[in-house]
Amino acid sequence: MLKVVIAGCSGRMGQALLEAVHEAPDCVLHGALVRPGSEMVGKLLEGAAQPVRVSVDVPATLAGADVLIDFTRVEPSLHHLDVCERLGVNLVMGTTGFDAAQKQRIAEAGQKIGVVFAPNMSVGVNLTFGLLDMAARILGQDYDVEIIEAHHRHKVDAPSGTALRMGEVVARALGRDLAQCAVYGREGHTGEREAQTIGFATVRGGDIIGDHTVMFAGVGERVEISHKASSRMTFAQGALRAARFLSGRGAGYFDMQDVLGLRGL
Ligand SMILES: NC(=O)c1ccc[n+]([C@@H]2O[C@H](COP(=O)([O-])OP(=O)(O)OC[C@H]3O[C@@H](n4cnc5c(N)ncnc54)[C@H](OP(=O)(O)O)[C@@H]3O)[C@@H](O)[C@H]2O)c1
Repeated sequence: MLKVVIAGCSGRMGQALLEAVHEAPDCVLHGALVRPGSEMVGKLLEGAAQPVRVSVDVPATLAGADVLIDFTRVEPSLHHLDVCERLGVNLVMGTTGFDAAQKQRIAEAGQKIGVVFAPNMSVGVNLTFGLLDMAARILGQDYDVEIIEAHHRHKVDAPSGTALRMGEVVARALGRDLAQCAVYGREGHTGEREAQTIGFATVRGGDIIGDHTVMFAGVGERVEISHKASSRMTFAQGALRAARFLSGRGAGYFDMQDVLGLRGL
């Protein structure tokens, strides 16, 4: 049985992960972490094979675990990463919003422990990355690329990590550097669209779980590649697949393309 700890178990993804672990025949909930001061501290989680008390003590909760699944916020997740490294516990990192240096730090942890880091753990989105790569290579430089994403009103980072990854995939396929060609939102007298840029537009509202569309707009036609998530269970199931993938594999840094066997397709 894979011994799983869930960080941020009070959150939207944390709740979906608790359900997914509970339903998985090969996983057992080893521990659950929340923010210090959370109302859930000390609560006994029902439904687990062994009763699990929700804790804020990261090292004690991770002791003896196989893997931590983290969908929280940037600061706590980096603290969790340090403790995982120290204790030799694998990490599935689903949190988004990291800057370049923080992403580098997560990648470096792969020298000591198994790490899967992906801004989107759904099978469909990871397939979409491959479709985007193909579309960009075939359509080439003459099609304007715009990325539109929509999420629920509680999301704290923008554009979404998934939208940024989509931008990176397209930029790489077109031989561009996203940091140089991204345009984040437009307002006022912007002038004409600059060729070779990749535009991002963000929508926030209600309970939208996660919609992404990449538009390749040419002269006389446009191609749109879209993904719409309708349940967080798709991300939770993907995170469990990632946890199983790391089991018995040793140290290394991976993303969902590795987990799903999509790399190089
Ligand atoms: N990779 C993917 O497939 C994927 C899919 C969906 C979401 N995400 C990302 O996952 C993250 C969580 O999303 P969500 O919608 O579940 O958010 P959420 O509902 O706000 O949950 C965040 C969780 O983190 C906890 N937390 C906040 N600050 C903390 C701290 N200082 N120490 C410990 N725990 C802390 C929260 O505890 P309290 O409730 O006590 O504040 C809560 O349990 C976001 O970065 C989101 O973009 C990734």
